[in-house]
Amino acid sequence: MNEAPRFDSRLRKRASLDACLAAATTFAENTELKALILDARQMADELRDLFDNAPCGYHSLDAAGFIVRINDTELGWLGYAREEVVGTMRMTDLMSPQSRGLFAAKFALLKQQGRLNDLEYDMRRKDGTLFPVLVNVLAVYDAAGRFAHSRASVVDITSRKQAEAELKESELRGTAIVRAALDCIITIDSHGTIIEFNPAAEKTFGYLREHVIGRDVAATIIPPAMRGDHHRGLKRYLATGEGSYLGRRVEVTAIRSDGSEFPVELTITPVKLRDQTIFTAYLRDITRQKWAEQELRRFTDEMQAVSRRLVEMQEIERRALANELHDLVGQKLTALGINLNVVQLESAASMTTRSAERLQESLNLVSDTVESIRDVMIALRPAVLDDYGLAPALRSYAAQFAKHTGVAVAVIEDGTARRLQANAEATLFRIAQEALTNVARYARVERATVTMRTLPGSTRLTIVDDGCGFDPSTAHRTARDHGWGLMIMKERAAALGAELIVESAPGRGTRIAVTLKDDAA
Ligand SMILES: Nc1ncnc2c1ncn2[C@@H]1O[C@H](COP(=O)(O)OP(=O)(O)O)[C@@H](O)[C@H]1O
Ligand SMILES: [Mg+2]
Repeated sequence: MNEAPRFDSRLRKRASLDACLAAATTFAENTELKALILDARQMADELRDLFDNAPCGYHSLDAAGFIVRINDTELGWLGYAREEVVGTMRMTDLMSPQSRGLFAAKFALLKQQGRLNDLEYDMRRKDGTLFPVLVNVLAVYDAAGRFAHSRASVVDITSRKQAEAELKESELRGTAIVRAALDCIITIDSHGTIIEFNPAAEKTFGYLREHVIGRDVAATIIPPAMRGDHHRGLKRYLATGEGSYLGRRVEVTAIRSDGSEFPVELTITPVKLRDQTIFTAYLRDITRQKWAEQELRRFTDEMQAVSRRLVEMQEIERRALANELHDLVGQKLTALGINLNVVQLESAASMTTRSAERLQESLNLVSDTVESIRDVMIALRPAVLDDYGLAPALRSYAAQFAKHTGVAVAVIEDGTARRLQANAEATLFRIAQEALTNVARYARVERATVTMRTLPGSTRLTIVDDGCGFDPSTAHRTARDHGWGLMIMKERAAALGAELIVESAPGRGTRIAVTLKDDAA
């Protein structure tokens, strides 16, 4: 115990500390001292255990870079046995060629500085595979101040590197998506400062990314009138976590670099980061869409006006035709009938049987024609409609309809009927007419019911059959001369401010209901 063993040799021979302590125990005379030495042995055992089984690697290198000490953990990583390494291998033997160059410079620096942190190397296992490590290293000097050895802790950073690589990759992918997006993508931090501005945004707003990054988003792309709202909304969200714009699509106005304003569709998604919330806005210029919508609306309005006008014109024409039939043809036919009657009365005796038969035939023909013309007139514009109202007109039409089509129509009046305005009565009559025509053509039934119900504040006309039915969603106008009926019915109802409902399903019959509010009539 007189001469302490040299530190270096102690490191090289791990058994020597044990040997020293064992010798010390033998030589110690005093029992107290013996106990102390025993404690020290125990502590040394524990330290060695900690050293060998630490979750990180430990090693020491001598001045020449030879490994003089290494723990089990690091040996396990490398796949070597201690004897293969200690005293025989340099640190550089366990590194990738690239790391070897780096190591030489760092090792020289360590000797001067005494400590180096966070060095990254690639270590090489016995089987040749590489793994990345993070090294923190301390220089230990001898009494004379010369470098004795290094003491390094080593952490295997394979999984960290992998996570970093994955993160980087996902960032790259994210950036690529943002850059390639057709929508403007603008990200702001919780102060409203722009931190991302993608190429679509550059194009739409007329700014370069580098000019707007770091600027206040409100002052950049929000029209002055709406900036207050933006600031309040941002503040409110940060305070309460609520935002009326968040997570849904809204239409707002934005402003370009040249000061022009335009409509955009906007969605904002908050992203909670560790220390703040950022907001990503997706914007789309909807100027064209708005314009197209307006055009479409204008066009639809125009079409509707035209079709209403057509329906009106048709009504006027029909009335004129009915009048003409009545005034010109009807009256003359009546006169013809009267004349023929006179001839029959006055000259029957002097006529041959053949002439008398012809005369009778002519009289029949005249009355048949008068009848036919009356039918046509009723269909065109029943005089009963003007004179007595809807229900009587429907009844008279139903009788004639049954005669022609074989479909019996019951006309039911429910409630005390009031007269409606002339055009309302005409419209409802036409709808019933068109609906009944469809019953006769398609429903494959022998009866139908027309009900005129007078409700408080409204009148409802229904035409019901329990025939084959159809799917109203597919009964579009498919051919030039087909499928106009339902459309014109709707058009007529709309022109009147009435509501028309078509209820039908294959095999379930058909019900058409028009409801006209009194204030509309
Ligand atoms: N009462 C009904 N029963 C069965 N099918 C009907 C009835 N009314 C209409 N349809 C169906 O709806 C289609 C459209 O009717 P409509 O618009 O009047 O056009 P069109 O009579 O010119 O075919 C008809 O072709 C028919 O298939
Ligand atoms: Mg039809």
